[in-house]
Amino acid sequence: RSNYTVMSAVRSESPSTCPVLTKFQRDCATPKPFLRKVADAISDDMRAGLAVQGGGDLDMILTFVDALPSGKEEGLFYALDLGGTNFRVRSVELGGKEKRVVAAESEQLSIPHELMIGTSEQLFGFIASKLADFVAKEKPGQFPLEQGRKREIGFTFSFPVYQTSIDSGTLIKWTKGFHVSGMEGKNVVACLNEAMEAHGLDMRVSALVNDGVGTLAGARYWDEDVMVGVILGTGTNACYVEQKSAIPKLQNKSSSGTTVINTEWGGFSKILPRTIFDQEMDKESLNPGEHLYEKMISGMYLGEIVRRVLLQMCKTSDLFGQFVPVKLSSPFALRTEDLCKMQEDNTDDLMSVGSFLYNFLEVEANLKARRRVVEVCDTVVKRGGRLAGAGIVAILEKIENETKRMASGQRTVVAIDGALYEKYPQYRRYMQDSLVELLGHDLASHVVIKHTKDVSGLGAALLAATNSIY
Ligand code: GLC
Repeated sequence: RSNYTVMSAVRSESPSTCPVLTKFQRDCATPKPFLRKVADAISDDMRAGLAVQGGGDLDMILTFVDALPSGKEEGLFYALDLGGTNFRVRSVELGGKEKRVVAAESEQLSIPHELMIGTSEQLFGFIASKLADFVAKEKPGQFPLEQGRKREIGFTFSFPVYQTSIDSGTLIKWTKGFHVSGMEGKNVVACLNEAMEAHGLDMRVSALVNDGVGTLAGARYWDEDVMVGVILGTGTNACYVEQKSAIPKLQNKSSSGTTVINTEWGGFSKILPRTIFDQEMDKESLNPGEHLYEKMISGMYLGEIVRRVLLQMCKTSDLFGQFVPVKLSSPFALRTEDLCKMQEDNTDDLMSVGSFLYNFLEVEANLKARRRVVEVCDTVVKRGGRLAGAGIVAILEKIENETKRMASGQRTVVAIDGALYEKYPQYRRYMQDSLVELLGHDLASHVVIKHTKDVSGLGAALLAATNSIY
């Protein structure tokens, strides 16, 4: 009992008496009126981007996906997925409305870091060789092809691409730690085709899609109320179904119906609560000044922001006494999953936070220090989750504005994929809370947030089927 009293006395001491932490928390605050302004600013940029190319921070890319999967798709299709730390190849046998996915095989590989910053020949050569290995493993005659028919691929390429048709597009810029030389402005599909040819692969890309579009398409296959596909992983993005009549920049003015827009919302930059730590991280990144919203809400960056704050607290506020752990000076040493592990510790004395800090930084952190570390994690994750929620609200309100579907009681599904969303419960909760706070209970009661794991590959294969040339 006496132990318990001592413990709670320590626990009740405010951890925020540290000036760096106090200021950081103040700078990161996202109260409801502020979040409302963020959602409105994102909406404004969505409209500006739909009006003219480059009209706002959001590219609002036309994807040429007018028809989403219906369930009737049939045949064998392949999917390639490039966009984060992993690269995936798969084959999907589609059996139509009744049978759906008859068989699927997949293989995942991590992309060697040097390929992320090398040449396009190296990167696409690697992809084509892995694709060739994958196809070579098929048993002879396993998937007989009709005479003259090539195997068709849905290529998920998760970077901003200026799409020129469903099966071609040029890279606008790299994001998320990729910086492959000489590729900006180049046709991504042509790069892949060249590499496939060099590897003797007779395949064709029938659909080039963003991972957000793939997620939307894959989720729509199972649920026709899916209107939005969101990625919260290494990077972040949202794609949604828009009315063609609401897209002034569309060439064919007379067109009716709907089409999918890739917002590239990671590029949003206005009125964000950016601290000195965000600014410095951005300055040192591979894409300074770009994708600032992504740098505040996605998995690649949350750990890095926390690392920078902790380093400053060590240097100026004696977080660990006079000790400044060497590892804290190493960029990206602290990963977002480490923050999550620490936040999962709900013991009174934060034992596992202590042992994590000991293993990671070789420091014996006292309870006060452990609590401060967790506070920093929570501050960054709360800001990220709430800002992501504001983005989703902006999109839902845009859909509602055009269709009034929620007001008429129609269920509207947001399909979300990505490791950050999947594996970080606090992030998820902060995101969902801000969504309800901004939308209000009435509208929010028609919104379903669905975690759709790994459907983007299926989505890409389905879009290859929809756009098959045969
Ligand atoms: C980055 C890319 C975007 C992608 C997102 C999620 O923001 O620019 O295209 O969808 O990451 O992977």
